[in-house]
Amino acid sequence: MATRKILERGDEALGKVCRPVTQFDDRLHQLLDDMRETLAQANGYGLAAPQVGILRRVCLVTASDETVLELVNPEIVETEGEQTGYEGCLSVPGLYGAVTRPARVKVRAQDRNGKTFEAEDVEMSARCFCHEIEHLDGHLFTERVEGRLYTEEEIDAMREEQQESGRKKGRGRK
Ligand code: NI
Repeated sequence: MATRKILERGDEALGKVCRPVTQFDDRLHQLLDDMRETLAQANGYGLAAPQVGILRRVCLVTASDETVLELVNPEIVETEGEQTGYEGCLSVPGLYGAVTRPARVKVRAQDRNGKTFEAEDVEMSARCFCHEIEHLDGHLFTERVEGRLYTEEEIDAMREEQQESGRKKGRGRK
């Protein structure tokens, strides 16, 4: 296993529509192993093959139970509800923006051996399914951001402010 370089916004590979995987061979397994190591080292939640310069329909998503799902040729087959929250991307380091996504997402994909399976998840993982699959069509979350992008410091400051007003409300109720 080896880590691969994560491409950043502005790199043309991130704007391409990726091709389906047809060969479930050692090369695919090597790619998936390397992507797992790259994701773990970057401390990320999900990673799509074009982010490491490979224009194939392959991505990783961390599920709610913290296992990392390998999705080959994934498709969203069902969604329900809505959630809005701050989202980021390893290819847009240090910047976050509010994005509305479905609350629950079900995907159908193939595993590394070509076997079809379905997976369903909520919250961050539902968000991640959408985010990673969009990478495979050449799209970044920044295209969907409501308002502007915020730095990590700004996000932290907003969270503190929310907690502070939450505490005040809490005191008010007592
Ligand atoms: Ni991303």
